[in-house]
Amino acid sequence: MGRFDGYGVLVTGAGQGIGEAAARRFAGEGGSVLVTDIVPERADRVAEAIITSGGTAEPYACDVADQAAVDGAVAFAVERFGSLDVLVNNAYSCAADPERFEEFEDTAWYRDFEVTVHGTMRCSRAALPHLAAADGRGAIVNVGSVNSEAYHGCTAYSAAKAALVGFTRTLAVQAAPRGVRVNLVQPGTTHTAGWDQRGQSHVLAHLARHYPLGRVGTPEDMAAAITFLASRDASWITGVTLPVDGGLLVSNLGMNQAFDEDAVG
Ligand SMILES: NC(=O)c1ccc[n+]([C@@H]2O[C@H](COP(=O)([O-])OP(=O)(O)OC[C@H]3O[C@@H](n4cnc5c(N)ncnc54)[C@H](O)[C@@H]3O)[C@@H](O)[C@H]2O)c1
Repeated sequence: MGRFDGYGVLVTGAGQGIGEAAARRFAGEGGSVLVTDIVPERADRVAEAIITSGGTAEPYACDVADQAAVDGAVAFAVERFGSLDVLVNNAYSCAADPERFEEFEDTAWYRDFEVTVHGTMRCSRAALPHLAAADGRGAIVNVGSVNSEAYHGCTAYSAAKAALVGFTRTLAVQAAPRGVRVNLVQPGTTHTAGWDQRGQSHVLAHLARHYPLGRVGTPEDMAAAITFLASRDASWITGVTLPVDGGLLVSNLGMNQAFDEDAVG
């Protein structure tokens, strides 16, 4: 018996990385998963892989910045699976910082908010009536970032991820009487396809030194936390922000290394 037997699950940005790992984990534990992504081929590949391994999934092309696509995805999930019990808001956008903040382009700034903040709002709003009808098992898991808690660059992205913390807390209280829980997972550096596609994966070994647990995260680390918060195991947890970061946020290893180097000479 799987934790998500009989559940309908919708994951945004599920065509690779953390979203893919979450989709696979939900399906592996009995859930029926709508694998949504802005890139249709990515959603197709992940849904196919889930089906091949004996799970239940459907691919669905959906840009979370597009209201009609979001409404379509939610309606499709309910029609196909009979219910929508879990929503994972994982899709994001991250604009590179210009050299000086005053050079930040409106379009880049707004896109980060459009996808990360408004996309999460849009999907949550469309899903909420269905989650509230899910006999107390309705849950939203938002995917934030350690960037909302400490400096790691990416101004618009960090501000957008911080907005998700406030959104999570507020909606958690407002949706609680309707039997819907809302929580947020806050990943630290996680080796996903995104890092490879940006040509940045070579920095991960260096970043690992700043993590008390000695490595960067895996998509599966994040999927474990996402599915925990979505499951009945977390039935008395709502409104929380859960760092899944190998101890990054409670440490200051860079400063301590500098101190040790200076102290030793
Ligand atoms: N990987 C990390 O180091 C890291 C660290 C902290 C937080 N996170 C967060 O984890 C989440 C997933 O990150 P990842 O590294 O797996 O990302 P990724 O870049 O590997 O994959 C993201 C997926 O989202 C899809 N996508 C992009 N824009 C979309 C849109 N508008 N609508 C729908 N889908 C869209 C992409 O096509 C892609 O398949 C994000 O919310 C990210 O901010 C990641």
